[in-house]
Amino acid sequence: MTDIELVNAAIEATKRAYAPYSGFFVGAALLADNGKVYIGCNIENSSFSVTNCAERTALFTALADGARKFKAIAIAGGKNGEISEPCPPCGVCRQALSEFCEKDMRILIAKSNGYDEYTLGELLPKSFEL
Ligand code: THU
Repeated sequence: MTDIELVNAAIEATKRAYAPYSGFFVGAALLADNGKVYIGCNIENSSFSVTNCAERTALFTALADGARKFKAIAIAGGKNGEISEPCPPCGVCRQALSEFCEKDMRILIAKSNGYDEYTLGELLPKSFEL
């Protein structure tokens, strides 16, 4: 699985989004160290706070499948599924990822021409830990 393939899987996953309230479609593709790719999409709810982000959908799907270690996550999102500006993960998703992912896990964020690359440590330098 190349980085470009992972980014393309995230873009493809935006088509699964359920986003009738915001019209903002997000997809994520999480590469586990078992080689599997878990996709996720945002799933909204009429009670807005119940909404689940694409990144956490992918993470929770992977965890439920037994995966516990991750190499990279690609994220794509945009209004009406149009990938123009980068769509960085929200703070809640950064913290959720930090429970299971190393600081050097790569985060690939799709944009109109390619993707930007960060590490989790760059995007969440001071994660909460008990
Ligand atoms: N959203 C995500 O799926 N991931 C993020 O990291 C930020 C926001 C979704 C939630 C909601 O369905 C829509 O984008 C607009 O906030």
